[in-house]
Amino acid sequence: MHVIEIEDDFDSWRSAALIALAKERAPESIEWRTAEGAAQAPALFGDVVEDAAASEVKPAQIRVSKELAALLKDAACFRDERRWSFLYLVLWRWTHGDRSVASPADEDGARLYKMAKAVRRAQHDMIAYVRFRQRDEALGAPEYVAWYEPDHDVLAWAAEHFAARMGRSSWLITTPDGAALFNGERLQLERRRALAADHANDTADAAEALWMTYYRSIFNPARLNENALEQHMPVRFWKGLPEGALIPKLVSDARGGARRVGQARSVGALGGKAVQVEADAAQPERDAPTSLDECRRCSLWKHATQAVPGSGPADARIMLLGEQPGDQEDLKGEPFVGPAGQLLDDAMRRAQLPREQVYLTNAVKHFKWEPRGKRRLHKTPGQQEIEACSYWLDKELQETGARVIVTLGATALTALLGKRATLQAHICRVVPYGDKFIVATYHPSYALRQNDEAAREKTVAAIVSALEKAAEVNASR
Ligand code: URA
Repeated sequence: MHVIEIEDDFDSWRSAALIALAKERAPESIEWRTAEGAAQAPALFGDVVEDAAASEVKPAQIRVSKELAALLKDAACFRDERRWSFLYLVLWRWTHGDRSVASPADEDGARLYKMAKAVRRAQHDMIAYVRFRQRDEALGAPEYVAWYEPDHDVLAWAAEHFAARMGRSSWLITTPDGAALFNGERLQLERRRALAADHANDTADAAEALWMTYYRSIFNPARLNENALEQHMPVRFWKGLPEGALIPKLVSDARGGARRVGQARSVGALGGKAVQVEADAAQPERDAPTSLDECRRCSLWKHATQAVPGSGPADARIMLLGEQPGDQEDLKGEPFVGPAGQLLDDAMRRAQLPREQVYLTNAVKHFKWEPRGKRRLHKTPGQQEIEACSYWLDKELQETGARVIVTLGATALTALLGKRATLQAHICRVVPYGDKFIVATYHPSYALRQNDEAAREKTVAAIVSALEKAAEVNASR
C-alpha cells in the first residue's frame, strides 16, 4: 500500500494525484492521508509513505472537461474522509478512457454529482445565513465578526465571496474548523480552532437591537406558516442569526392565539382614522417587469428555455403575429425559425414581402409544451396566458411602426380582438383596429398539419393572399 500524505485541501490533493497518475498507481493501491489523519493513525509497518512535494516524477498532463473539473473542485469540499480516494478513483477512470464516470447515470458519477450538489447548497446557505455583528469600535479590528457552522468545507469559498463584497471593512468569520480574516485588503485563512474562541464574546452591535425590533414588528403571526418558515430558514441556522433567538417565542405566541388577532393590537394602537377599502385596492401597486427575460406574469417561464421577443425592424409597417414560440424558437430565442417559419418564409417570398421588411412576433412569448416521450409537444396557450402576455404585445404595438397586423391563426386573432372573435368570421378580411388594420389568416402550422397536398396548398395560398392584402393596405393608407 502506498500512503500519500497531503494537506486537507484540493490543491494539495490535485498535485499529489497528478504524480500518482504519472506513476500509474491504481486507486486501490493508495491510502490518502491528511496531516490531521496521519497524526491520529500513523502508517503501518510495510506501508510506503510518499511525499508528493518531494517527488522527482513529473506530474501527469491530463485534460478533463470543464464540467468535471468543476465537479471535482466542489466535491473536494464535501465532508467525508474518503473524499480524496474517491476523487482519485474518478480521475483514474477518466484518464483511462472511461468517460462515463462524469455522467450522473454512472454509480461513481452519481456520487460525485451528489457531493458537488451538497457542497453548492452549503455554499449558498453560508452566503445566505452568515450574519456579521459589528464590534465595539474600542476593540479595534476586525470591525465585524460572524460565527457560522457550515455543513461542508466551504469557508474558503464563502470568504472569497465576502471579500469581494464587503469593501475595505475588516471582518472575521469563525467556524468550528477554522477562520477567515480579512483586514480590508488581504484574506487570511486559518485552520485553527482557537480563533473561534478568541472572538466569541465581543459582539456588541447597536444595529442588532434595531434589527430585532424591526424583525419583531414585521413578524405577522396571522400569516405565519411554520413549514414555509422552516423551509426558507432551516432551524439549524437559527443559532447563527440574531433573530433566531426571537423566533421560537414569536412562533409559540402565534400558536397560543396571536395568529387569530394578527397584528390587530399594534395596528389598533396606531393613531388616525380607520378607512374602509376594498381588498383589491388594498393590494400594493406592483412594478411592471423590467424586461421580458424577467417576466413572471404567468407561469410559462418556468418550463421554457427563454422568452422569445419579436424580431425585425422597429419601423416595419407590417407585423406578423403568431401564437407562441415553438420548440426550435424556444431554443434559439427567435420567432419563426422552425418548420412553421420555413413555410412562412416561403409564403412571404411568394407574396413578395421580404422577411427583413416585417416585424415578426407572437401573442405569447414563452413556449408552452407538454412532454411526449423525449419530445416537447406544443400546447395551445390558455386565455389567462394570452392576457398576461398582452402586456408585451401592447408594448410592441405602441413601440413599433406597425400599421397592418397579419394575425396567423386563432390565438393571435383573439389576442387582439378578444376570445369571441373567430377565425372563420375574419379570414382574409381587413378589420380596423384603432389606427391600425388587422388581416386575419391561418397559422402556418395548420398548413403543415394537412396531409393532403391539395388542402395544404390551398391553406398556403390563403396565407400568401393575406400577406399580399396586408402589403396592399399598407401601400394605400
Ligand atoms: N409558431 C408560432 O406561432 N410562432 C413561432 O415563432 C413559431 C411557431
